[in-house]
Amino acid sequence: MSTTNHIDPKSVPEHIAIIMDGNGRWAQSHGQDRLFGHTKGVDAVRETLRAAVDVKVKYLTLYAFSTENWNRPKEEVEGLMNLLVMSLANELDELNENGVRLQAIGNIKGLPEYCQESLREAIDQTKNNTNITLVLALNYSSKWEIREMVKNISSKVQEKTVSIDSIDDELISNELTTKGIPDPELLIRTSGEHRVSNFLLWQIAYTEFYFLDIYWPEFGKKQLNEAIYNYQNRERRFGLVSSQIKGE
Ligand code: FPP
Repeated sequence: MSTTNHIDPKSVPEHIAIIMDGNGRWAQSHGQDRLFGHTKGVDAVRETLRAAVDVKVKYLTLYAFSTENWNRPKEEVEGLMNLLVMSLANELDELNENGVRLQAIGNIKGLPEYCQESLREAIDQTKNNTNITLVLALNYSSKWEIREMVKNISSKVQEKTVSIDSIDDELISNELTTKGIPDPELLIRTSGEHRVSNFLLWQIAYTEFYFLDIYWPEFGKKQLNEAIYNYQNRERRFGLVSSQIKGE
């Protein structure tokens, strides 16, 4: 079934976040090495991004490298860093053609200098695009981000530039690496795992979750549209009762 025609253009999530999981297992199931799976993962990113632009999603956040991923074998970590740099270079023209603005969240300073350099370049060269913002979570961990936020706010309290009473949700959100990015309405995870894995813990307080059994390289336009369609048929109550939402 094609769901594109069924999607209500008025209630497409403004922000979709994705935990792209299963590249390694997909590769293994095809008798290939893990890096081949990540390369196929980039193809899935391209198709998903195009589909997101088509239905006018405004922010797409992808969990591309977690702080925990440093513990993988050295060749895989290096392979992923090289893939990132190569992909940024190869895709830059298409990002610009599709009006994609690139942003990165996470501990970017902890990435190898050559990755930081190519990220800076791609972010700078796409900064005026307005169709969609592609947010790459790189060297990202939500607990790291929350820890940094606590440290920053504590310093400001100590310096007396922030009073304890003025600490509210907005002040906290503005100290996270996602500052200025609305919270995601929808979080998708592939590969049959039902975990959040240290991703956007503050930002997903009211996010709808959508889990699929397929591996990330198998994800694309059809699956994104089905996820949006599924989301649109849920009732988001934000702690209220159903009749309050429907205005009865
Ligand atoms: C999860 O599969 C995927 C990753 C840790 C990396 C995701 C990276 C890409 C899709 C490529 C680079 C991205 C960009 C945006 C250029 P896994 O390796 O955890 O799979 P497994 O759980 O089956 O081992």
